[in-house]
Amino acid sequence: GAASAAPRPDPEPQPVLSPLTTAAIFLVVTVDPGGEDTVRDLLEDLPGLTRAVGFGSPDGALSCVAGVGSDAWDRLFAAPRPAGLHPFRALDGPRHRAPATPGDLLFHLRAGRLDLCFGLAAEIMTRLRTAVTVRDEVQGFTYQDVRDLLGFVDGTENPVGAAARAAVLIGEEDPAHAGGSYVIVQKYLHDLDAWNALPVEAQERIIGRTKSGNVERDDEGSHVTLNTITGPDGAERQILRDNMPFGSPGRGEFGTYFIGYARTPEVTEEMLRNMFLGVPPTSHDPILDFSTALTGTLFYVPPAGFLDDLPPLPAAATAPAAAAPAADPSPAEDREPDGSLGIGGLN
Ligand code: HEM
Repeated sequence: GAASAAPRPDPEPQPVLSPLTTAAIFLVVTVDPGGEDTVRDLLEDLPGLTRAVGFGSPDGALSCVAGVGSDAWDRLFAAPRPAGLHPFRALDGPRHRAPATPGDLLFHLRAGRLDLCFGLAAEIMTRLRTAVTVRDEVQGFTYQDVRDLLGFVDGTENPVGAAARAAVLIGEEDPAHAGGSYVIVQKYLHDLDAWNALPVEAQERIIGRTKSGNVERDDEGSHVTLNTITGPDGAERQILRDNMPFGSPGRGEFGTYFIGYARTPEVTEEMLRNMFLGVPPTSHDPILDFSTALTGTLFYVPPAGFLDDLPPLPAAATAPAAAAPAADPSPAEDREPDGSLGIGGLN
């Protein structure tokens, strides 16, 4: 009919494309057995909670992106799986390893003021405390002139505008999830003593840009070269990074929280293979000799409208009486293979 022939408006994404901010919190949790209902309620309320915390401070530009991990998708939503959603693939390189670590939900909070990120993270955890296990929480900050703790300006070659949208947002290739995105996070710790012992020229060769002027150099095997990749058509394949320094000088902890959004995780995964497995004649990205990946998780980021109107809870997670009215509800038979009751809504 005429209605179905009309072009559909592009689904509004979550604020994945929001501009660089000076503060961020990265919160990764797993959903406890039976916590599904509580998590769904929070996800539906997330845009409202973000407005409640941030609206009074418009200059703070508070935003929150929620991502869902592969295992959690089937527990939370009776809906087709996003085509690219799978557990993060660990990599074992000749020298360095990218581990895969647990994560059912990612909250990527950004603002011009840490107190806004903090306030929203506190609200989220008040709601989720009884339903999740926190796996990682990192407070990131902008350091000097948008430099990482290695001292290099980080984020320069990020795509902007239409190129950023094309790099990050799912389109016709997966119509049921158009407007969504994928995000990979990795928490890295740096060996700053070893790094700072290098002459600046050696550091620049490793990164592939100059340190003070941030000008691109042409170094084979540099971090920049290994992460400049092209598709079969020769066009550059890009991701959108929002890395943040974090750390604790008192504990001697200096890190980079890597976060990369992409329309398909394949692009980020190819970059990671280049870094950890190498591209001959480079055996691995030399940045890894000074940076250790402690975490690695992949999430799907649904479009904004998904949160307003979640798909139903899967039958396995609804009350047995409602899911199978004819069955004998003996406790033993109702147990999931993992021994849990596999039901939500106990609270
Ligand atoms: C570029 C730092 C991890 C992908 C850069 C640059 C710096 C940097 C300083 C040059 C300026 C820029 O364009 O941003 C770091 C640090 C990391 C890290 C400190 C963690 C220890 C990663 C990872 C990936 C990645 C894990 C991908 C999976 C890229 C890409 C570029 C880049 C795509 C731009 C290349 C270009 O087109 O010029 N990174 N990075 N980085 N990095 Fe990283």
